[in-house]
Amino acid sequence: MGVNIAGRSFLKLLDYTTEEIEYLLELSANFKSMKRAGVPHKYLEGKNIVLLFEKTSTRTRCAFEVGALDLGMGVTYLDPGSSQMGKKESIEDTARVLGRMYDGIEYRGFEQAKVEELAAKAGVPVWNGLTTEFHPTQVLADILTIREEFGEIKGRKLTFFGKAAGNVADSLMVICAKLGINYCSCGPIGGNSEGATSYDPELLAECSRIAAEHGSTITITEDIEEGARDADVIYTDVWVGMGQPAELWESRIKLMSPYRVTAEVMSMAKPEAIFLHCLPSFHDTNTTVGAEIAEKFGVTEMEVTDEVFESDKSRVFQEAENRMHTIKAVTYATLK
Ligand code: CP
Repeated sequence: MGVNIAGRSFLKLLDYTTEEIEYLLELSANFKSMKRAGVPHKYLEGKNIVLLFEKTSTRTRCAFEVGALDLGMGVTYLDPGSSQMGKKESIEDTARVLGRMYDGIEYRGFEQAKVEELAAKAGVPVWNGLTTEFHPTQVLADILTIREEFGEIKGRKLTFFGKAAGNVADSLMVICAKLGINYCSCGPIGGNSEGATSYDPELLAECSRIAAEHGSTITITEDIEEGARDADVIYTDVWVGMGQPAELWESRIKLMSPYRVTAEVMSMAKPEAIFLHCLPSFHDTNTTVGAEIAEKFGVTEMEVTDEVFESDKSRVFQEAENRMHTIKAVTYATLK
């Protein structure tokens, strides 16, 4: 019997089997081909979805909106500033109301427990558009990008540099384990939990077990050469995440600077290695935060140099486009 995930929520990759993830990747590639060829695919006409955002977004919001419109669906965007959500009505009550009006609900916010609770109560599929713990739609797009580059992904090595635990890094660890990709986390470990990377031991153990089942490994290292050596993909993310206090910048810059992705780091990886970043990125001072950091700490590039970001190894905009194709696949497969 083929894969069927209709009616399911998409909250974290741990809930999905390897076959289901591979099915979503294949579906994403098909949607991308259709979009490129201008083939209409309004398969979900008559359905409506709602997007609940407690945090800001460019890629995730636009991917859900364009994906829904391409599929023929109606879409409503709600932020805390333009609804009762959070102020006069709990997220839980909001979801129970919206579950009676909409066919699916996207949620971006804080605790994973919240999106899990929404899914338990909404009565319709709920999609995680980022929580403190996981960012599953992001890493589906990352893997699609890697697949497009290399074809076969099993046995490849992906190394995450810098703040190597968090919603994106942890989601990458899970999806790599499930797909037999060797995952390496390279950054300062332990110590000051405000700045260094601290791993959830249960998640790490679970991913190591899953990776072993699929013939791959999970490596945690502070050694930059070990991290970059033989890597097919070098990945990084901002050092201070969404919703975290700006006071963290000083300690993070001190701790993470050795793990900035530079041309030297890329030269230690395989010659055909590519660079990925979930975006947004602080690779220059052309943002308010980037300019403030430069003025305060004298740092003009943070997690990645502008040289690498703009290099021919960088696939970051292809990766961003793939958010739309993969999110479209997730909404279609769970609503069809
Ligand atoms: N990568 C990502 O989630 O981007 P947005 O915050 O713009 O949605």
